Amino acid sequence: PETGCLSIVVLGASGDLAKKKTFPALFNLFRQQGFLNPDEVHIFGYARTKLSDEELRDRIRGYLVDEKNAEALSKFLQLIKYVSGPYDSEEGFQRLDKAISEHEISKNTSEGSSRRLFYLALPPSVYPSVCKMIKTCCMNKSDLGGWTRIVVEKPFGKDLESAEQLSSQIGELFDESQIYRIDHYLGKELVQNMLVLRFANRFFLPLWNRDNIENVQIVFREDFGTEGRGGYFDEYGIIRDIIQNHLLQVLCLVAMEKPISLKPEHIRDEKVKVLQSVVPITDEEVVLGQYEGYRDDPTVPDDSNTPTFATTILRIHNERWEGVPFILKAGKALNSRKAEIRIQFKDVPGDIFRCIKQGRNEFVIRLQPSEAMYMKLTVKQPGLEMQTVQSELDLSYGQRYQGVSIPEAYERLILDTIKGDQQHFVRRDELKVAWEIFTPLLHRIDNGEVKSIPYKPGSRGPKEADQLLEKAGYLQTHGYIWIPPTL
Ligand code: BG6
Repeated sequence: PETGCLSIVVLGASGDLAKKKTFPALFNLFRQQGFLNPDEVHIFGYARTKLSDEELRDRIRGYLVDEKNAEALSKFLQLIKYVSGPYDSEEGFQRLDKAISEHEISKNTSEGSSRRLFYLALPPSVYPSVCKMIKTCCMNKSDLGGWTRIVVEKPFGKDLESAEQLSSQIGELFDESQIYRIDHYLGKELVQNMLVLRFANRFFLPLWNRDNIENVQIVFREDFGTEGRGGYFDEYGIIRDIIQNHLLQVLCLVAMEKPISLKPEHIRDEKVKVLQSVVPITDEEVVLGQYEGYRDDPTVPDDSNTPTFATTILRIHNERWEGVPFILKAGKALNSRKAEIRIQFKDVPGDIFRCIKQGRNEFVIRLQPSEAMYMKLTVKQPGLEMQTVQSELDLSYGQRYQGVSIPEAYERLILDTIKGDQQHFVRRDELKVAWEIFTPLLHRIDNGEVKSIPYKPGSRGPKEADQLLEKAGYLQTHGYIWIPPTL
């Protein structure tokens, strides 16, 4: 691994994302031995608000609780320095550069290294000016070696055109190899497991196609609404917030062909190919919803049509998937919180058990909570009678990997940026196709041509969504429910 000075700069340091995700992830990396060595690392916060180092530390301290290790917390906080300044002035960024450089010199690493990671925890509207400032004032010092990398978060634009504009503005300043577009779903344990599961196991190879699979569902549900961020959300809606990025990334990993190797570029090549095979979404295969009470938020217009729920069916026109619906579903203020991939297999041909069966084979990958993979299958009900019952082969992580703590998505991804591994980040061409898939539909929604159906908070969403699922061929299993095993 590389050694020498490492400067992590969090821009937008006093904002929500930085406090809730970026700093806690850095803290966890710090606590784990070996990552973020205090002899090498310095963390800088930059934002417009005038604060002292101590005031910034006070603001984030509450998000970094660690009762068992108060010493680690105070050591970590000591690594953080604060610089304030605007996002579009060279003067501010020159001061930032000076602060970084002083530390690079004072740490006096004889092998010399100027590794600079800029984490933009900022709204995308300021990405271009911030990138410009970094490029002009804050690049790594070439005599010391090292690198400069930029981490950006969604939303990368609002549609194809705005996203491409953003990409080219940033692309003029930095090489693709310096830009890390985070989609935090790619940092989740079971999402990262997809590649291993699919390509390291003989079980799945012959089954993973249109001959055996009836439909695929990728589902995100939350049991809370958009409280506190209605203003942001109303501009974007659930498709831009969850489906076009998080769920589509998961779809890529479920549907792509086997990459030539594990090289990040080979994997990302395959993801792009499968996205390019998605055919335009039709309005008949979309159901939108908006929970009742969403518009009570003072930052949401009274006549908003913004969906807080959507089910959309994607069709992949290739040899493996022709005819198999990929149902992407996401909703806020529903009856539960979970994310899962549900692969439903076709009926058994000439099935002699048909009339006494509860349901089809399903393979479910529970991304969260209670990470698990389970296969729903029919077995003989134990006992004297020849009865069948739906049961499961269950690999529940909590039970199987007791005592193993699963890292947070952001921790892993930040570590990847330090290591220079882009596998779990979205490449520019991937982003472009993702927008190509959804932009026509999004424009029709923005123009009010597709309407959101009201639903009760705490429900399953609009009933029309379940009807669409049924129409697409999804068969619900009756009288069976998987319960995560308790330890
Ligand atoms: C974010 C969305 O990207 O993901 C939020 O903007 C959503 O609306 C969140 O709540 C969900 O992330 P997770 O990791 O809690 O499933």
